[in-house]
Amino acid sequence: MLAIEVENLTKQYGKHFKAVEKASFSVETGEILALLGPNGAGKTTLFKMMTSLSKITAGKVNIMGYDLHKDEYKVKSLIGYSCQEIGLDPESSVLFNMRLFGKYQHIYGDKLKKRVDFLLQLFELKEVENRKVKLLSGGMKKKLEIATSLIAEPKILFLDEPTLGLDIESRKKLWGYIQQLNEEQEMTIILTTHYLEEAEKLCDKLVILESGKIIKQGYINDLKEEVANDLIKINFSKYEEHEAIEYAYSKLTNLSFVNEVKKVKQELIVSVSNGRSYITDILDETKNWKYNIKSIMVTEASLEDIYLEHTGNYIREV
Ligand SMILES: Nc1ncnc2c1ncn2[C@@H]1O[C@H](COP(=O)(O)OP(=O)(O)OP(=O)(O)O)[C@@H](O)[C@H]1O
Ligand SMILES: [Mg+2]
Repeated sequence: MLAIEVENLTKQYGKHFKAVEKASFSVETGEILALLGPNGAGKTTLFKMMTSLSKITAGKVNIMGYDLHKDEYKVKSLIGYSCQEIGLDPESSVLFNMRLFGKYQHIYGDKLKKRVDFLLQLFELKEVENRKVKLLSGGMKKKLEIATSLIAEPKILFLDEPTLGLDIESRKKLWGYIQQLNEEQEMTIILTTHYLEEAEKLCDKLVILESGKIIKQGYINDLKEEVANDLIKINFSKYEEHEAIEYAYSKLTNLSFVNEVKKVKQELIVSVSNGRSYITDILDETKNWKYNIKSIMVTEASLEDIYLEHTGNYIREV
């Protein structure tokens, strides 16, 4: 069953500027979708329209069969939203904030108490439940923010940059919680992130937004298959000059088995149809170079390769 269906969604600010333009995509129940794109691409604007926090200029949003325009109240009862800016009351305690969010969602009494307790345990916030929010660390605030969005046991969870500013350990823990919610409760999750590793680890599907328009979307596995080539990544020492990269680039592009070479700072990324069988040829070629190579490795295309390829930021001038 489709959990989310978005059709030609558009947001116009002022007379001419479209922050989101004709975005269409869908998410099946139980899937996790990553919405990627550079700063200002329109990700938060899209989220705000989908969660009815911002008026839709044109287009449609359907959540679990309910049209957002016609059944706004029902849709709101199905979703949880953790926004990019922290929306907590800094002067009140963790517990107070949790209870307040529960009341907003019409959950009261024993049910509220149990739910709040469960979430504070899950996010390891129980020990600080009486602390004022303004005294929490950034990571704790982020976890609390996500916990508040889960009080009403949403079927669909929107997370706008859930791990921004978290240390590596907290980020990995949060990934664990997200996976747990998804697996145990079949929760459909849509998140934005600038960490491609995060999208690769958690998500089934990808939507890439740029200047308000979707430039690529699909299942991550399918997108990887589209990049049929293996990649041989050659890293030069950071002390090597422009000339070394240019020399290597011209040598590699002349090899008959090489499909494409891209330059990314001190790295050359060589696309070949079978990386393992050509690595020795590459080593033979580089053996006589007088430049300092730090590493050479063969990899399959990663999500980063896919993202950079489609956003056009891949080939940066060296
Ligand atoms: N209320 C508003 N009025 C006018 N323009 C706005 C408004 N809100 C956002 N914008 C503009 O819309 C564009 C998209 O902003 P948005 O916040 O959706 O980007 P984003 O993809 O979430 O970026 P980031 O990765 O930085 O969070 C930006 O150019 C932004 O300046
Ligand atoms: Mg944003």
